[in-house]
Amino acid sequence: MSAQILDGKQTALAIRQEIAEEVTQFIADGGPSPCLVAVLVGEDPASQVYVRNKQRACEKAGIEGRLHRLPADTDQATLMQLVADLNADNSVHGILVQLPLPAGLDEREVLDAIDPAKDVDAFSPYNVGLLMQGRPRFLPCTPAGIVQLLHRYQIEVSGKHVVVVGRSDIVGKPMAMLLVAKDGPCGPATANATVTLAHSRTANLADVIRQADIVVAAVGRPEMIRGEMLKPGAVVIDVGINRVGDRLVGDVCFDEAMQVASAVTPVPGGVGPLTIAMLLGNTVKAAKEIAS
Ligand code: GUN
Repeated sequence: MSAQILDGKQTALAIRQEIAEEVTQFIADGGPSPCLVAVLVGEDPASQVYVRNKQRACEKAGIEGRLHRLPADTDQATLMQLVADLNADNSVHGILVQLPLPAGLDEREVLDAIDPAKDVDAFSPYNVGLLMQGRPRFLPCTPAGIVQLLHRYQIEVSGKHVVVVGRSDIVGKPMAMLLVAKDGPCGPATANATVTLAHSRTANLADVIRQADIVVAAVGRPEMIRGEMLKPGAVVIDVGINRVGDRLVGDVCFDEAMQVASAVTPVPGGVGPLTIAMLLGNTVKAAKEIAS
């Protein structure tokens, strides 16, 4: 048996095309050009690639993508002032501070300072709170991208047992919140799951994963999840992007998963492109709400 490959790249391209059409219509109706500002502090190579990809995607969708590059030795006060300036700038609709910040900077204080109306990452406590209460304004980009992927491949989530492996604020926790909600961004079929939020200290992790109809792997450990840990026919969503030598691998051993699962996301070309597509969608939503 060989699983279906869930093509995140193609799905993201389709979503980006829809967003580009939405932007064209918004501007034709007299709206301002949506504008996303990325703040990149330091020289982290992976962050530089991510930010460049986000900016390119913005341009292709008709969204203005601005970048503030700050040196790694930037102090907290300078960064806080930049966030305050961007909050006050009416031409800016979305603010994204690329993580991780260099050591010595207080990430939490920076994220807390972003105006929730411009918080297109959905990292601020206000937006996290709305999600927790089942009434999100902005959807967190990676979890929302995963929901879109499942929806567009007609993989029902309602009533299924989803095991999310990884409890990060960016992926694991918001993923669990979205899937357990009564309604989802693509309707109730993409929500109403029974969710287990597992992590590195979960006892008998392999046994827990083996119970999953759908596995979302977001632990950041290369190929940690093996084929033998999966229930036959499971759907496997791999959020991991790990560099091993000159290869990029996920948190799941892809070749083994392909032999056991019914559907698997590749790395790269799976979840990553969807995260960017969702960011564009959030920026357009922010522009529309700020302009109205
Ligand atoms: N670093 C890794 N993923 C993300 C993300 O989704 N948003 C931001 N701002 N930084 C990140």
